[in-house]
Amino acid sequence: MRRRMVVAANRGPYRHTRTAEGTPKVARSAGGLVTALDPVLRERGGTWVALHEPSAPTAGECNSGYDLAYVPLGPHTRRGYYHGVSNGLLWPLLHSFVPTIRDGEVPWRSYVAANAAFAEEIARQASSGDLVWVHDYHLMLVPSQVRVSVPDARIGWYCHVPWPGPDIFRTLPWRSEVIEGLLGADVLGFHTDEYAMNFLRCVDALTAHRIDFSERTVWVRERPVRAVASPIGIPTADVSALASDPRVAQAATELIEALGGRRLVLGVDRLDYTKGIPERIQAFEKLLEERPTLVDEVVFVQVMVPSRIDVRAYAQLKREVDRLVGKVNSRFARSGRVPIQYLYRNLDPLSLYAHYRAADVALVTPLRDGMNLVALEYVAARTECDGVLVLSEFAGAAHYLHHALMVNPYHCRGLRDAIVAALELGPEEQRRCMEALRLEVAELDVHAWADRFLALLEPVP
Ligand code: UDP
Ligand code: G6P
Repeated sequence: MRRRMVVAANRGPYRHTRTAEGTPKVARSAGGLVTALDPVLRERGGTWVALHEPSAPTAGECNSGYDLAYVPLGPHTRRGYYHGVSNGLLWPLLHSFVPTIRDGEVPWRSYVAANAAFAEEIARQASSGDLVWVHDYHLMLVPSQVRVSVPDARIGWYCHVPWPGPDIFRTLPWRSEVIEGLLGADVLGFHTDEYAMNFLRCVDALTAHRIDFSERTVWVRERPVRAVASPIGIPTADVSALASDPRVAQAATELIEALGGRRLVLGVDRLDYTKGIPERIQAFEKLLEERPTLVDEVVFVQVMVPSRIDVRAYAQLKREVDRLVGKVNSRFARSGRVPIQYLYRNLDPLSLYAHYRAADVALVTPLRDGMNLVALEYVAARTECDGVLVLSEFAGAAHYLHHALMVNPYHCRGLRDAIVAALELGPEEQRRCMEALRLEVAELDVHAWADRFLALLEPVP
């Protein structure tokens, strides 16, 4: 019999919002964590504990089929915990960027208080024998806090972002608190073995705990804590159904017709500085400088989902992307031919998959990314086995998708060459790579991921 599951993640799965016409609707929240966990909870049932936001719907309103519990925080604590520590400090650090926030400005106390509030709500929701599964960098103190309040719980934590080596992680002033907070769990999951090993090396550098590297295990006194590579995936059955939906095919055909014979190069990202969007635009600009007539043959469509707009670095990035797109379009547009089209909104699944189906090339070129589900979704949508995936070697997905066209996104000329190579790849070669990629993506099913992770969490007899 399956155990009941209590999941905790900062972001709730759904929110009240409005359509472009202004009609109220309930939509799924942005980001890979929600895309992955929502189908898992729909399938298994359980409770999702999330931060309370004014836009938060009830379980009935979003027809989730599982329970929702919200953690209310005062505005000061919420700001310090979410904007200050989670987005200002931990997000860049875990992606190997130098955080711009200064030590004296960091509202660490808010992070501790918010984690304690989550742990309290989890303790209210979890009964003896339930599995408690905590997610991501917002909640790294929660595992040890829950271990105190629910000592017999089996506790897992999953890292949806990369984990850096000790040289970078050691710069965090609260490095020991974070490591000890996580070691309250029984199992810690990472997208790749490289991240799991980085974590173990951080534990080695910062604590006296005994570590068995070959077993990927830390011994916290007599208690084993496993750090495992457990790659996340996509709901493959739902995605194939969506990719073959006639409405998606129709929308893809309309999109292709609207392009007037030009080929589509596609980028799909949350607007985040880790995604390498300016670098991608600059590589496309370089290509147009050398071949200005390409504007008659190719259009680059960049979908950018608004994200963390209250954080300075994100607002700056938005201005930077606006400037770059404006510059390239003003330099290279001709009447009726705009080289870059950019959509600044969260597309609904039908429209997103129509873009995947219509795109000849997908540019998934983050500077660093935990996994990157867009890469997997693009491949899953290519049911005709054509199209080319250009993939950054710094995305976790690069560890699993060996038949993509790999690039170093920091190398402008290399990225430009990769776009040319992708556009020139013949149909036979496209098919050969896409068939292999589709087999690789089929291995990355989100339900299998959850089953595997939760099986590790089962108590040892
Ligand atoms: N996504 C979406 N609407 C959009 C663009 C993207 O729902 O307009 C989804 C996409 O399907 C994917 C997720 O957002 O599942 C992004 O996940 P990813 O792992 O690529 O990056 P993250 O945003 O988590 O950093
Ligand atoms: C990434 C993180 C998630 C986060 C999502 C959206 O996928 O790993 O934890 O929910 O981005 O970001 P947001 O700050 O809007 O929740």
